[in-house]
Amino acid sequence: MSNKIKLGFVGGGNDSLIGVLHKVAAVMFDRYDLIGGVFSSNKEVNVKTANDLGLDQSRIYNDFEEMIDAESKIDLSEKIEAVCILTPNFLHFPMAKKFLENGFHVICEKPLSISLKQAQELKSIKDSKNLVFAVTHTYTGYPMVRQMTQMISQGIIGDIQRVDSTYFQGWINDIIHDKDKRNSTWRLNPEVSGISSCLADIGTHAFNMLELVCGMKVKKILADLNNLYEDNPLDIDVSVLVRMENGCKGTIRSTQIATGLENNLNISVYGSKGSLSWEQENPNYLYYYTNDKPLQILKPGHPYNSKISLDGTKLPAGHPEGIFDAMGNIYRGVARAIRGEKNEKGEFPTIEEGVRGMDFIEKAVESNENGNIWLELE
Ligand SMILES: NC(=O)c1ccc[n+]([C@@H]2O[C@H](COP(=O)([O-])OP(=O)(O)OC[C@H]3O[C@@H](n4cnc5c(N)ncnc54)[C@H](O)[C@@H]3O)[C@@H](O)[C@H]2O)c1
Repeated sequence: MSNKIKLGFVGGGNDSLIGVLHKVAAVMFDRYDLIGGVFSSNKEVNVKTANDLGLDQSRIYNDFEEMIDAESKIDLSEKIEAVCILTPNFLHFPMAKKFLENGFHVICEKPLSISLKQAQELKSIKDSKNLVFAVTHTYTGYPMVRQMTQMISQGIIGDIQRVDSTYFQGWINDIIHDKDKRNSTWRLNPEVSGISSCLADIGTHAFNMLELVCGMKVKKILADLNNLYEDNPLDIDVSVLVRMENGCKGTIRSTQIATGLENNLNISVYGSKGSLSWEQENPNYLYYYTNDKPLQILKPGHPYNSKISLDGTKLPAGHPEGIFDAMGNIYRGVARAIRGEKNEKGEFPTIEEGVRGMDFIEKAVESNENGNIWLELE
């Protein structure tokens, strides 16, 4: 009998941006069978997506509550065990809560929720059950991010003395200057996106990446948010000063108005003995700088990489690892956790990281609203 994890989707239909990434990632290591779900809020798209996937009609549902009721009545050997929540932000909390309460493992898109309180509630429900909960900070699955994390934890660059994490996009430039367009974009609608646009969408990736690679928490922040237009209720451009746990200083900057820029997530950590820098748009290169040697560029798939980095590399060196591979690595880590197999810290982003992300968003908004003051994260 197959040991594959029976998976359900909520969102991620043919009308979505992120669905294809999850569909491909889920099947990459033969660990999951996609069984059914609610792929879209649009009935036709829901059915069409499921049909394109060749799924059993009886496992296509009209809404997530109907899905939970029906799946809960199915024999354990056949029922969906884990669910991916790929809907706009405001739906993450009610959906994840109900799935957890009914015993489903959850793979949830970021941001985890639209408030810290909701995120903490999800964590406490998850902690009270023997379930796995992942928050898909996709970029953490790249082999060279894993390598960077390992090298910093081994002290190769010495004490961390400066950090910079940036995520620059320019897509909102085509929308923001037109009142009708900005009023019809869900990422700018507080009821759907939450209290933030840019912070919630991409600032949270930059924050998560910083804490991950440094192996250290951000202690306090001072944020300056920019909405560009007075009638735009949410931030689209953010600068944050940070103090790390060890006292070192740095920045997190994210913007959606860097015209022409695409998905420029860059992380640089400067240590007392060396520095490391990685760029999402060139993910196969990890730049290692020291004062006494020429620049070294590390690449995936070579024996000099750490075990967890090599675990995330599928083909011999020189075959580029991309974003599908990064998400595939996360899905494999989640599968190992669900099946109780040995899995290393860092194989997938956890609910704790989702809660940290919500704390970051809330404190950044609060800092900005109170005249750009320093605030401690929990
Ligand atoms: N990890 C990443 O790098 C990354 C990248 C993009 C988006 N995201 C996150 O993924 C989520 C979705 O973003 P997107 O860009 O794909 O949005 P989208 O608007 O393109 O797609 C949303 C999908 O959810 C469906 N949906 C909406 N309400 C639903 C409901 N009640 N039941 C079932 N399906 C429903 C829609 O029909 C659609 O298929 C967001 O939370 C976003 O922050 C993450």
